[in-house]
Amino acid sequence: MLAQVLRPVSNLFDPKEYPDLLVGIGDPDDAAVWRLDEQRALVVTTDFFTPVVDTPYEYGAIAASNSLSDIYAMGGKPFLALNVAALPPDLPIEISAQILRGGAEKCREAGVIVAGGHTIQDKEPKFGLVALGFVEINKLMTKSGLKPGDALVLTKPLGFGVTTTALKRGLTTPPETDEVIGWMSRLNAQAAALANEFGLRAATDITGFSLLGHAHEMEKASGLGLRLRFDQIPFISCAAKYAAQWTFPGGSADNKLFYERFVQFSPSIDETRQMMLFDAQTSGGLLLGVPPEKLQNFLARAKEVEQPAWLIGEAIVGQGIEVLA
Ligand code: CO
Ligand code: CO
Repeated sequence: MLAQVLRPVSNLFDPKEYPDLLVGIGDPDDAAVWRLDEQRALVVTTDFFTPVVDTPYEYGAIAASNSLSDIYAMGGKPFLALNVAALPPDLPIEISAQILRGGAEKCREAGVIVAGGHTIQDKEPKFGLVALGFVEINKLMTKSGLKPGDALVLTKPLGFGVTTTALKRGLTTPPETDEVIGWMSRLNAQAAALANEFGLRAATDITGFSLLGHAHEMEKASGLGLRLRFDQIPFISCAAKYAAQWTFPGGSADNKLFYERFVQFSPSIDETRQMMLFDAQTSGGLLLGVPPEKLQNFLARAKEVEQPAWLIGEAIVGQGIEVLA
């Protein structure tokens, strides 16, 4: 549906007339990329959403981390952001202030200045950022950068959608709530820096379209197939428990409906575990393509700097996604 809505926009702009637009129309990716000179490009993105947790400070921090993530997913480093906020007029001013403070402190942690923004009144709160970053053009990472044999490495576990819905229903224990909030607030900055250090060229971040949805975007853009191994895919500790109670958000069902045609599951992977891979994530990790000859050193370096990294599969000649048990 969204593709149909956006079609008139893409028809209006001919990419050939905008040679400095390195990534944008025609090859949608995590963020738009605009060449500034021979070496450097500007990375631009925006993202905002309704509350995923019931604590305002954490909501702000997660929304900011999620917005900045699309810059990291392109191999860039964010430096400037603007708030985008819609706040109910009857929301206590302290609550609104905490949302913005959570966002601003997360930006400061990332080395990003919040230089303004825009707030309107709306019944349901919405918050996020417009974010700008720089990328060295030879360090640019795209969804189309996978090569056959590349290892697929994920830098945060899954299970955020199914757990935050359980949280909204009052089911989660305090340690479970802390665990999911901790992961969603975490910046993808270090993962992106590591990707830069190893000269990686293929990446995306795992958000609302789920691991399989975003993995599909990569295999399609790269013209390859993917092979994933379920038993190597990381989940937060309570994900399986809430999956069994089927607290998946609506977006996860939409993901399954749309993306399952591109996925072949091993018969021993039951419906619940399949659904865990279609689960809509908020502020998920990076999915990186790592050339096989760099993999061992990459994983060793990740361990050294305490950057979580899980090898979950590889890119292969072919198309679609195969999920082995
Ligand atoms: Co993204
Ligand atoms: Co986005």
